[in-house]
Amino acid sequence: MTVSTMAEMIPGSAPYPRNAWYVAATVSELGPQPLHRWLLGKPVVLFRQHDGTPAALFDRCPHRGYPLSEGRVIDGAVECGYHGLRFGADGKCALIPSGGTMPAGLGVESYPVREKWEWIWIWMGDPARADPALIPNLDRFGLGRPDWHSETSVLLQIGANYLLSFENFLDASHITFLHTGQIDSGDVAGQPLEMQIDGDLIVVARRIENELQSPLTMRTFGFEGDRAHRTITAEALPPGICGIRVEVEPVEQSAVQRQVNQLVVGITPQDDTHTLQFTAVAQTFPFFNESRHDDVRNLLMEDVVAMEKIQRLREAVHPDERVEFGLLADKGAYQARRMLSAMIRNERNLTTANGD
Ligand code: FES
Ligand SMILES: [Fe+2]
Repeated sequence: MTVSTMAEMIPGSAPYPRNAWYVAATVSELGPQPLHRWLLGKPVVLFRQHDGTPAALFDRCPHRGYPLSEGRVIDGAVECGYHGLRFGADGKCALIPSGGTMPAGLGVESYPVREKWEWIWIWMGDPARADPALIPNLDRFGLGRPDWHSETSVLLQIGANYLLSFENFLDASHITFLHTGQIDSGDVAGQPLEMQIDGDLIVVARRIENELQSPLTMRTFGFEGDRAHRTITAEALPPGICGIRVEVEPVEQSAVQRQVNQLVVGITPQDDTHTLQFTAVAQTFPFFNESRHDDVRNLLMEDVVAMEKIQRLREAVHPDERVEFGLLADKGAYQARRMLSAMIRNERNLTTANGD
């Protein structure tokens, strides 16, 4: 890895790989009408075809430039709401209501999409490389596993570069300070961490014995008392997935088993300075905490506010003042940078090799 290739992987302006599956929407968001979403620097319209399979097109009508998502879905195609041109899942124009000959090439870009678990995934890079087998294995996070309980949770938009999300999840030492009292009583930051690389997966774990827990942690797990053994494992599958697994074993209830709560986050760049976080939760025990979605939102919004402050400050200061020192706790985050940098470099090499 050369200094110059890593140098651009700076949170605030880091480029993102395009040859990857990203979460574009939750299944429940995609109803009978088109759904607009800005993804990887492009406007996208998502809709369902006749048989219910999802489709995604560039969200701009090639007639007069009206957003296709402002129209409606008719017979499994999207109908522009301005003059009624219709486009199927392949992006080709299928109907011109006002007549005349069909101009050659009248159509819009279409993107491969797949439904897997409760998420709709999109590939906005080279379509020839859109192998569905490359969609991340969610089973390893507990999502959809029959012996776990899993569901989608909140969707958050962040006014910051996507790399800030990776660095936020991969450095759990921030929870001692940014989430004071919410999910930490002050012990996490000082704990030793263990990092492992397992193929394309980054794992950073901290184990804390007999730790004073916050009311939120005990409420999430339904445990009594305020002390528990806790393991916090931050994981990342660049470029699109992060996870935080919390394993808790209460100290005062010796008959109670260790339980696991896994947060999974689909991280999708919208452009260089905006990112979506699709959250989901899987756990080894039933969902009984009625305020769980609010709890997730309130907690993650503390991260969102921090990331947006970092982004804005970075943009406001002179480039020479964007100093950054790496610390031990940044091990996972720096590994993510290396992996993302390699992905982007590979894409550029492919583009050069293809003469594009
Ligand atoms: S702008 Fe879409 S049909 Fe005219
Ligand atoms: Fe956080």
